[in-house]
Amino acid sequence: QAPLKIAVAGLGTVGAGVLKLLETQGSLIEQRCGRRIEVVAVSARSKGKDRGVDLSRVRWFDDPVAMAAEAGADLVVELIGGSEGPARDTVATALEAGKHVVTANKALLAVHGTDIARKAEANGLTVAFEAAVAGGIPIIKGLREGLAANAVSEIHGILNGTCNYILTEMRTTGRDFADVLADAQALGYAEADPSFDIDGVDAAHKLAILASVAFGTPVDFSSVYIEGIRQVSAVDFDYADQLGYRIKLLGIARRTDAGVEQRVHPCMVPKTAPIASVDGVFNAVVAQADFADRVLFVGRGAGAGPTASAVVADLIDIARGRSTPTFGVPADRLGAATPSPMEAR
Ligand code: NDP
Ligand code: HSE
Repeated sequence: QAPLKIAVAGLGTVGAGVLKLLETQGSLIEQRCGRRIEVVAVSARSKGKDRGVDLSRVRWFDDPVAMAAEAGADLVVELIGGSEGPARDTVATALEAGKHVVTANKALLAVHGTDIARKAEANGLTVAFEAAVAGGIPIIKGLREGLAANAVSEIHGILNGTCNYILTEMRTTGRDFADVLADAQALGYAEADPSFDIDGVDAAHKLAILASVAFGTPVDFSSVYIEGIRQVSAVDFDYADQLGYRIKLLGIARRTDAGVEQRVHPCMVPKTAPIASVDGVFNAVVAQADFADRVLFVGRGAGAGPTASAVVADLIDIARGRSTPTFGVPADRLGAATPSPMEAR
C-alpha cells in the first residue's frame, strides 16, 4: 500500500518529538498499519534551528498555510498552537484542500472545535486530536470508543501537567512557584504563554473538549468557570495535609438537568482518593459511566514523548483507514437527542 504522506506544521517540543518517534518506530508502525508514514514537508519559524532530526530529505515551507495547500500530503499535522492565526488558518486550509488533520491544539478545538468537526465531516475528512487532552493518556479514544456504549454523567481530573508539577514540587520540596514554573518550561511541559497553564485556561480548554466527547454536546469553552493556582501558597499545603487532603487543580464536568456544568479550580482532594497520589507531570481523569461504572485513566500529561505517542496513534488510525465522528457524535447532531444519564439508568 502507498505510504501515508504527512506535512508537519510546528517543530517545537511536540513537532520534533513526533519526527523523532516516527524515525525510531518506523518499522513497528509499518508492521502495525501495513504502510509507511512518510514526512514529505515541514514548517516552522526558524529554518536554521537544530531540532535533533534529519530534515535534509523533507521539503521546507516558511508558511504553514502554503504547506497545507501545496505540499502534496494526504494529511496535515498542526503543532503550532493557539486558537487563531497560523494554527487556525493551517487547519482550515488543510480541510479546504481535502486533507485529514491531526492536531494537539486544545485551544483551537475548545474555541472552534464544533465548526472544524462540521467542516471535516461534511467533506469525509478526519480531524484527530488525541494529544490535545492529557498528553500520553488515550483519553479521547477511551471515552469515545472505549465507553461508547455508556451514558457518562461526570468527568473530573487533573488536566494540566505544569500545574500538577508545580503543586507537587511546592508541597514536597518547599520550592518557590516561579522557580518550579521555570523548570516546567525547560522540560517542555508549559504552553508558549505559561499563564494559560497557571491561570487554569489550558485545563479549561481540555475540559470543554472532554465534556463534548463524554456528553455528546457541542464544545462550550465560554461557559467554563476558571480559577488557576496563583493564589496557592505554602501554608495551604500544610493545612490541607493536617486535615487529610492534597491540593489539586481539577477540571470537573457534570451533566445536570439544567445542562452541562464545567469548572476548573484548585480543590482539596482526600488523600484516600486515587487521584490524590497522582503527582508531578502526571494527569488523571475519572469518568462516571452508567454500565462500566467508575473508570480511572492515569499517565503523563505533557512532554515530547507522551504527546508524540498520542499524535502518532492518530496517524496510525488514519493510515489504517479508521474514522470516527470527531467528538463521538456526528457534528450536526451534537447536543441533539442525547439521553440524560438519569433516564438511561
Ligand atoms: P512549541 O512552542 O515548542 O512549538 C511551536 C512550534 O510552532 C515551533 O516549532 C515554532 O517554530 C512553530 N511556529 C510558531 N509560529 C509559527 C508560524 N507562524 N509559522 C510556522 N511555524 C510556527 O510548542 P509545543 O510543541 O509545546 O506545542 C505545540 C502544540 O501542542 C500546542 O498546541 C500545545 O498546546 C500542544 N501540546 C503541547 C504539549 C506539550 O507537552 N508541550 C502537550 C500536548 C499538547 P520555531 O521552532 O521555529 O520557533
Ligand atoms: N501545557 C500543557 C500541560 C501541555 O502542562 O498540561 C499538555 O497539554
